[in-house]
Order: sequence, then C-alpha cells, then structure tokens
Amino acid sequence: MSKNFDVIVIGGGPGGYIAAIRAAQLGFNVACIDEWKNAKGGPALGGTCTNVGCIPSKALLQSSEHYDQASHHFADHGISVSGLEMDVGRMIARKDIVVKQNNDGIQYLFKKNKITFFHGRGTFAAAKDGGYEITVGEESLVGKHIVIATGSNARALPGTPFDEELVLSNDGALRVGAVPKKLGLIGSGVIGLEMGSVWRRLGAEVTILEGLPTFLGAVDEQIAKEAKKAFDKQGLKINLGVKVGEIKTGKKGVNIAYTDAKGEAQLLDVDKLIVSIGRVPNTIGLGAEVVGLALDERGAITVDGDCKTNLPNVWAVGDVVRGPMLAHKAEEEGVAVAERIAGQHGHVNFNTVPWVIYTNPEIAWVGQTEQQLKGAGRAYKAGTFPFLANGRARALGDTTGMVKMLADAATDEILGVHIVGPQASELIAECVMAMEFRASAEDIARICHAHPSLSESTKEAALAVDKRTLNF
Ligand code: FAD
Ligand code: NAI
Repeated sequence: MSKNFDVIVIGGGPGGYIAAIRAAQLGFNVACIDEWKNAKGGPALGGTCTNVGCIPSKALLQSSEHYDQASHHFADHGISVSGLEMDVGRMIARKDIVVKQNNDGIQYLFKKNKITFFHGRGTFAAAKDGGYEITVGEESLVGKHIVIATGSNARALPGTPFDEELVLSNDGALRVGAVPKKLGLIGSGVIGLEMGSVWRRLGAEVTILEGLPTFLGAVDEQIAKEAKKAFDKQGLKINLGVKVGEIKTGKKGVNIAYTDAKGEAQLLDVDKLIVSIGRVPNTIGLGAEVVGLALDERGAITVDGDCKTNLPNVWAVGDVVRGPMLAHKAEEEGVAVAERIAGQHGHVNFNTVPWVIYTNPEIAWVGQTEQQLKGAGRAYKAGTFPFLANGRARALGDTTGMVKMLADAATDEILGVHIVGPQASELIAECVMAMEFRASAEDIARICHAHPSLSESTKEAALAVDKRTLNF
C-alpha cells in the first residue's frame, strides 16, 4: 500500500527542509525524505549545509579565530596569556555538538509542522495516479507534487579520488584530528579560503594552488585586492595561475607536481591536501531516467525561472539546479516553490542574493561589481569608506578594509555594495534590503545610523558616492 501526500520533498538540506515547512504552513500534507546519516547511522537533517558545510565551517572558523586573537591580539588590549594551548579534539567535538543542535532543531520543526519524515534514499519509481511514486527502501509513497532538493557533492580532481585521510573534500577537512604541519589546498575559492584560514590560524603552513591568474575573479577587483593584501600579511600562501599535475600519496603525505604562473615546474609536499575546486549537482540514485527527468550538460536538473522541471508538478531547487550554490538561495527557492504549488506568486530576486566569505577580514557583497558595470557600459558613481576612519572599528582594533557602494550615475539607484572588513556578513544585510527596495545611495546617506557602529561606514560610503563623506 502506498502512502499518499500532497507534496513529497526529496532532500532535507536548506532547500528541501524549508520547502517542506513552507508547504506544510500552506496546509499541504507533506513528506520529506533525506538519506544523510550521523555517526550512529541515524538521521541528520540539514544536508551539506548543516553536516559538512555552512554550520561546521563557521564553528571551526569561530574557534580558530578565538585562538588567533588570544595568540596575537589580546596583548594589544593589555591581556597577557601564558601557556596557551589548542585542543583540536575538543574544537572538533564542539563543532559536532553545534551540528547536532541544528540536526535536532530541524527534526523538531518537522514535528511542529506535522511533516512526515522518511530516512533513506528517495527514488522515482513511476508516474502514478496523476502524480509520482517514490520509493524509500521498502516504503512506497505517492505525491501529487515532488520537490527535488538533492544538493551537490565535492568535485574531485580527475585521477585523485578523496580518501578523506590525505586527500580531503570539505567533509574530511572538517574532521582533521590534529593541526597538520603543512597543508595544501587546490582552489582559492570560498572553501579554500575559509578552510585554509582555519588551519593557518591554528599553526599550519598553508599553501593554496589556484588555476586562475586572478584572485577571487567574481569579487569586485578593488575588494579582492584588499583581501589578498590581508591574507598575504597573515602568511596564507596563495599561488595563482598554476597548473596542477600529478598528485602522489604515500606514508609521508601528499606530493603535488605543478607548473607555476611563470611556466616553471614545482613540487609541493604537504601532510594533507584539501581539494576545493567547486561542487557538482547530485542526482545519484534519484531515478531521474525512470521518469524522464531532464538534466543539463553539467548534470544539474534543468529548470525554468520558476524551478519547474520538464515534468508536470515536479520542481527542483538549490544546489541541484542552476545558480549560485548557497544555502540562502536554496531556501528562497524552496519557499517560492511551495508558494507556487499553492497557486501563489513566489519569487526569487537573483540580483539581491548576498555572498559572504567568512575569512578575516570577511568579504561580503550584493549586486554588481565595478568590472561588471564597466563591461556592460553602465554609467555609475562609486563611493568608498575605509574602516580605518570608523571609530567602532578602531575601538575593536580591526580597521582592515572598506565599504564600497556603486550607484547609477543618473538615478543614484544602488547597483552593488562590496565590503571587506569586520562584520561584513552582518553589514551586507542593510545593503540587500536597500537594493530590494530599489533605494538610492542618498536614501542610505539620509538614514540615521547608530554611533559608534561599523554600519556608519555604510552610510559614509553612501555619502562618498556624492563625494561628501563627513569623517574621511
Ligand atoms: P544539500 O544541503 O546538499 O542537501 C541535500 C540533501 O539531500 C542531503 O541531506 C542529501 O543527503 C539528501 N539527498 C540527496 N539525494 C537524496 C535522495 N535521492 N534521497 C534522499 N535524500 C537525498 N552556503 C552558504 O550560503 N553559506 C555558507 O557559509 C556556506 N558554507 C559552506 C561551507 C562548505 C564547506 C560547503 C561544502 C558548502 C557551504 N555552503 C554555504 C553551500 C551550502 O552548503 C549549499 O549551497 C546548501 O547546502 C545547498 O542546499 P540544498 O538543500 O540544495 O542541498
Ligand atoms: P569555488 O567555485 O568557490 O572555488 C573553486 C576554485 O577552484 C576556483 O577559484 C577555481 O578557479 C579553482 N579551480 C578549479 N579547478 C581547479 C584546478 N584544477 N586547479 C586549480 N584550481 C582550480 O568552489 P569551492 O571553494 O569548492 O566551494 C564550492 C561552493 O560551495 C562555492 O562556490 C559556494 O557556492 C559554496 N560555499 C559557500 C560558502 C559561503 O557562502 N561562505 C563557503 C563554502 C562554500
């Protein structure tokens, strides 16, 4: 006997679990299937984000930042520390507790919203009764609407599979038991910089090999340059424009042959290697072929602007479809799809999806970069304000970086905001909201911001667009 549901969500990461909650709020009878297992084989809701992504990486970034502060910066405040030690095992155990709190929190939300949870792999079996039959182990479920949120997996280098001991994906990178003396990373994208920062702060000698000749090509050039300066100063070695060759693993660690930007052959010996060269959409075991679900050439599920697949009443959201691989993008799509199923007009504005890289300094942005505006031939005005001139930043002892605002030359509408510096992840929210409301730079410049606060730098950058900063 099949169990019938209005909506079946496959995948319990941020795209899936949020879609399930919103659909339940809208009055649907909802099931969510997720196969992630915790160390004991039980369910661990929250997907990549909760188990091996956003949450554990931020936990380790926080712990390692405390250690870095105690090691290098407390003395500036007159605090002396002797016998400082780092217990990596305890740091990892704390991270695991934070992960479990989030896993449990989602289970609680499912109960609260009367969502039926199935632990296992969901696979399309057939189109049935105007809907679709999905199997989970021995169980058969039939849903009128199916929402696929099966996420993504780490991309491996061809010929170098992850063994999670020496060659690590994001999963192994979050479980390293002791600080490696030498750590190598391939790819200086978001994971490379965040995980590289964690282990550098704890004392590892970190070398990142990046294929592209430019650092953080998607980031505003001025901001990327400022961030690179800070990372260089910290001792994070980032080699750009390299071509990675043969990788050998052995008792002594990992040996990476590569050609540097000048075309010279080089060798890098490290104790562990993290490969962070992007992620691939995951449709393993979904049975896409059984029902004729269309995938694109990257293996992502093909969807239109509304997250509709080629099959009627089958939707897909998050990392498994086009667009940025970000938890909040997945969540917004999940909400929008549930609302569309209910006949409402769910909408995701891709132009105002913020990005944050949680390094120190943090990097955050929304909207277009200066190079994009130049490329599009758009007339714009730019205003920047350095944290060096902000009283709160001086009091914090963290004056690296700036806020940069870009606005239309004629209308003054904000087109992009780019921040490198303290609390950039929080400061960007005001800018996202301003852009959602199509605010002008002058609108922000006229808003009263608390003093002393880092957010005054956003106001000052808005004033700088009109060349009238007050504190610089
Ligand atoms: P996922 O979170 O991958 O969830 C998919 C779920 O579906 C998984 O639980 C999987 O087991 C399950 N599943 C797959 N197939 C099936 C099936 N057939 N049946 C049942 N279950 C199935 N993003 C941010 O916005 N901010 C960050 O700070 C951030 N940090 C990150 C750090 C790291 C190290 C990594 C790797 C990623 C990070 N991301 C971050 C990206 C973020 O994790 C993803 O964008 C997000 O998790 C995507 O959500 P999703 O729901 O699409 O997929
Ligand atoms: P990424 O796309 O951010 O960076 C990959 C980097 O590897 C790029 O700079 C690329 O040029 C380089 N690269 C690719 N192939 C290479 C090769 N063969 N040799 C050398 N360099 C190579 O991908 P990453 O860091 O793996 O992260 C995956 C995704 O996860 C991110 O794009 C992001 O969507 C998400 N994420 C988000 C975070 C956040 O929001 N703070 C944190 C971590 C991950």
